Amino acid sequence: MLTLILAESSLETIPPKTNKNDTTKTPNKKGKKTQQILDISLHSQIIKKLPNREKRGRPDIIHFSLLAALGTPLNKQGHLQTFVHTIQDKVITINPQTRLPKNYNRFIGLMQQLYKLGKVPPKGTPLLTIEKMNLETLIKKIKPTQTIIFTEKGTPTKPKTIMNECAQQENPTIIIGGFPHGEFSTNTLKLADKKISIYPEPLDAWIVISRALYCYEEIILNKK
Ligand SMILES: C[S@@+](CC[C@H](N)C(=O)[O-])C[C@H]1O[C@@H](n2cnc3c(N)ncnc32)[C@H](O)[C@@H]1O
Repeated sequence: MLTLILAESSLETIPPKTNKNDTTKTPNKKGKKTQQILDISLHSQIIKKLPNREKRGRPDIIHFSLLAALGTPLNKQGHLQTFVHTIQDKVITINPQTRLPKNYNRFIGLMQQLYKLGKVPPKGTPLLTIEKMNLETLIKKIKPTQTIIFTEKGTPTKPKTIMNECAQQENPTIIIGGFPHGEFSTNTLKLADKKISIYPEPLDAWIVISRALYCYEEIILNKK
C-alpha cells in the first residue's frame, strides 16, 4: 500500500497569542464559540506577524489535495493511506472511506470541529483524528521501505519512473508539501531516501499528487 503524507501543511487554528479578542472565534450552531482556522483571505494582518508566514494560512491547499487523493480509484480500491502533517506538528489520520465536503466553507467547519474535539464524527468510528506528532515520529510509525520527497529542488525524474520504483516496494511513502511557498525544513528533508523533481518549476500540490497517484495506480491496478 502506498502512503501519502501532505507535510508541513498550511492548516492550523489562529495562534493563541494573536487571539486577543473574540473576533477570531465563530459561534457554532449551538451558539458556542470555536477557534477559527487561519486563512490568509481573512487573517492577513495576523499572518503578517507570524514566523514562516509564506507557509501559513492556506487550508484550501489541504482541501484540494485531499479531494484529489481520496477521490482516486487507487484510494477507493484500498491501495492508499493518507496523512496530513501540519506546520504545527499535528498529524491528521484520514480513514480512506472519508467523503470530504466539496464546499470549502463546509470543509473549514469540519476542520474546526476536528481541532476542537480531536476526532470527527465525535461518536462512532472516527473518519478523521488529530494528534500532536512530528513528521519523524509519523514516519517511524509507518515504517516505510522507501521515502520519497517531491520537491522542485530534487533530482529531475519522470513521475512514471519514480512511481514504478515505488510499486516494487512493499511499503512506499511519498511526501508532498501542503504549503504555498518556501521550502521544506531541513528536518523534513533529512527523512527522505530520495528527493525528486517532476517539473522544472513549482507546481501546485494537488497537481503533483494527481500525477503521482495516477502513475502508481496505472501500475498497481493493471497488475490485478
Ligand atoms: C506549491 S509547492 C510549494 C513550493 C515550493 N517552492 C516547492 O516546490 O518545494 C507544493 C508542493 O508540491 C510539490 N512540488 C511542487 N512543484 C514540484 C516539482 N516541480 N517537482 C516535484 N514536486 C513539486 C512539493 O512537494 C511542494 O512542496
